[in-house]
Amino acid sequence: MLLFRALHVFHLWSYAIVVTATHPEPSVLETPMHFTPVTAELAESAILPCSQTCSGTKMWQMLDNDVSVIRCDNGSTCIQGDGFTDRAHCPRQWKDLSLNISSAEYNDQGKYACSCDDVEVCYVRLWVLVPTELHVSAGDKVILNTYALISKTATVHDVHIIWEKDDQNVLELKNGNITYGPGFEGRAYISVDRILKGNLSLYIDSVRKTDQGIYWCRHSGRSYAMMEAYPNAFYLNVETGGSMLTTRLMIVIGVAVTAVIACVVYIVKCATSCDHLSVQETTCDSLAVQETRNNCLYKDQDEDQDQTPSSQTKTKIPNTKVF
Ligand SMILES: *[C@@H]1O[C@H](CO)[C@@H](O)[C@H](O)[C@H]1NC(C)=O
Ligand SMILES: *[C@@H]1O[C@H](CO)[C@@H](O)[C@H](O)[C@H]1NC(C)=O
Ligand SMILES: *[C@@H]1O[C@H](CO)[C@@H](O)[C@H](O)[C@H]1NC(C)=O
Ligand SMILES: *[C@@H]1O[C@H](CO)[C@@H](O)[C@H](O)[C@H]1NC(C)=O
Repeated sequence: MLLFRALHVFHLWSYAIVVTATHPEPSVLETPMHFTPVTAELAESAILPCSQTCSGTKMWQMLDNDVSVIRCDNGSTCIQGDGFTDRAHCPRQWKDLSLNISSAEYNDQGKYACSCDDVEVCYVRLWVLVPTELHVSAGDKVILNTYALISKTATVHDVHIIWEKDDQNVLELKNGNITYGPGFEGRAYISVDRILKGNLSLYIDSVRKTDQGIYWCRHSGRSYAMMEAYPNAFYLNVETGGSMLTTRLMIVIGVAVTAVIACVVYIVKCATSCDHLSVQETTCDSLAVQETRNNCLYKDQDEDQDQTPSSQTKTKIPNTKVF
């Protein structure tokens, strides 16, 4: 283990040398960005990439607390470390050293190293996101309210903030400069004044359907260690006006169809009942009964007075006594 640590330190040291050699302005503070940042949603699987191949002993280690994740000797047997039992797999079909941690736990997040025959070949920083769900209509604005402990003595040049959506940059504040990911220029904003008070909230103007996805924010101060903000992620659900229009159209069509059906039913009913009515008229049944009663009574009483305008109707009725 001591050897392993020593190797690790040596690796970082050699990396620092490489960085110093290639960057025009050597800055120790900018070194360890070689930890590939990877995100996984809580309880979903986390894929830790490592495109190297290895024919010897493969090993994934969690560096933060020296926990072994998985160790596969050159045969086929793999031993999973405590805390990763039944969760860590290096699928053989992947050919490379990539790791699949099924059902990510919140405290799986941290720094990982993968080694081949005790030589570290890959470094990954895993972030486990617990997205807060937000619903917004296309065209509206949205604010992803996030907070973090920013040093009270920090200036805008000290803070490094990255807002990402589905592994693509939305916005990055570094060395006092803000850069935007594709499609977010002029639409995504952060407030530098508020950032220095610990408010890293992201404002997005006129939200589009393509903005839907998982957003997450990480930050660092004068040290390089990136830290998560709170809440650490958002799931932005964009409801488009298009679908709302479709819904309205469906309602209108539904109402129209119902109206047409009702009309047809009414016409058919009316036609049949009209026939029925004429039948009743001749037989002096049901509907005509009340009228008939009156008429019949009237007829009984005024048998001889046939001059009234209703006399025509009265005489038509064959059955005079209804009682
Ligand atoms: C791999 O396995 C072979 C035989 O199974 C063994 O001779 C060799 O030492 C092993 N290599 C390592 C790195 O464990
Ligand atoms: C990772 O493992 C989980 C559980 O075994 C599986 O459902 C998932 O598909 C795997 N991911 C990939 C990319 O193979
Ligand atoms: C920040 O922006 C200024 C002016 O726009 C530019 O001179 C400087 O090089 C930029 N710095 C970085 C690190 O991009
Ligand atoms: C944080 O900033 C956002 C936008 O920049 C703002 O809407 C929100 O009210 C701020 N939060 C507090 C507590 O001031």
